[in-house]
Amino acid sequence: MSLYGGKNTAQCSNSCLCDLRSDTMTAPDKAMRAAMAAAIVGDDVYGEDPTVRMLESRLAKLLGKEAAVFMPTGTQSNLAGLMAHCGRGDEIIVGDAYHIYCDEAAGASVLAGISMNAIATQKNGAVSPADVTEAIKVDDPHYARSRLLCLENTVGGQVIPLDDMRAAAQVAWKGGLSVHLDGARFFNAIAVLGCEAIELANCADSISICMSKGLGAPVGSVLVGSIALIVQARRNRKILGGSMRQAGVLAAAALHALDHNLHDLERDHTNARALAAAMSEMDAGDVQLGSNMLFFTPRDSNPDALRSHMADAGIRIGGQSPAIRMVLHRDVSDDGLEATIAAFQSYFTKK
Ligand SMILES: Cc1ncc(COP(=O)(O)O)c(C=O)c1O
Repeated sequence: MSLYGGKNTAQCSNSCLCDLRSDTMTAPDKAMRAAMAAAIVGDDVYGEDPTVRMLESRLAKLLGKEAAVFMPTGTQSNLAGLMAHCGRGDEIIVGDAYHIYCDEAAGASVLAGISMNAIATQKNGAVSPADVTEAIKVDDPHYARSRLLCLENTVGGQVIPLDDMRAAAQVAWKGGLSVHLDGARFFNAIAVLGCEAIELANCADSISICMSKGLGAPVGSVLVGSIALIVQARRNRKILGGSMRQAGVLAAAALHALDHNLHDLERDHTNARALAAAMSEMDAGDVQLGSNMLFFTPRDSNPDALRSHMADAGIRIGGQSPAIRMVLHRDVSDDGLEATIAAFQSYFTKK
């Protein structure tokens, strides 16, 4: 039994040159740490941390919503949001590949008595408006109450076009539901879509954004929505044990990321394309690319042997099987990327 679960793959034998398992692997840099050290703080449970308030109002404004609340994690931000939209016995409609359904330990059901109605995630990561319409239940005492559509963007790195987002949201609104967007990688999505934050945010009533994925902050997510929703979500955060005191040191990291790191997401996308192109050239398996991620399924090789080979070269790659996930982020240096490509090449030419 592993204390930390199954995502902890082959360890590097010497030092780790490049960790591609996730864009959560970034460490706060010197400038971010300086911003954290200099943060003006107060007790955020009293609403008195000016740095947290600055982060919340900045993101609310950027997304064109009334209010926001700072959360420790994306999972808690999603759950506090879901609980603000839904009561016990209510139902969410959610893509069957989405994080809320697959990767949040069913918290919505376990802690909030919310039923999850999973519908097919399309090949491009979207959910189809027809499936959403069909999933909305009539008001009948036999059934859970359909209350909320949960969207996600990006999905496994794939960027869902605005038209698909709007189409799904519109049928939900028409059916009397609200819409929540898990935008853990919201800024990757808008960088690829080439749209304003508000255009994507307009596809949902609430949006959860992670500052610790790709943007370089060590921790923190922000839930954005109407005043009424955020007041309820703040209460839910308390229930979930996520209210923090002098959290301005963390909000300062998030503000620093918004000021300095957003544009670096483009570099991650360029690097992902470069790695995908190199992998395709090796012709050793299937490569699926989306924003800052790629999934590589080796054709005739044992993924575990490949992972060990890479780890010996100081490179950590994702643990999913059979597809190996690789996520580009700001802590992947040019040398690290080069070493990754070279290590793959040496493995596949040896075979
Ligand atoms: C799409 C998506 N949503 C939510 C989360 C949850 O974020 P956290 O790990 O901060 O709880 C993740 C984490 O990787 C994610 O990828």
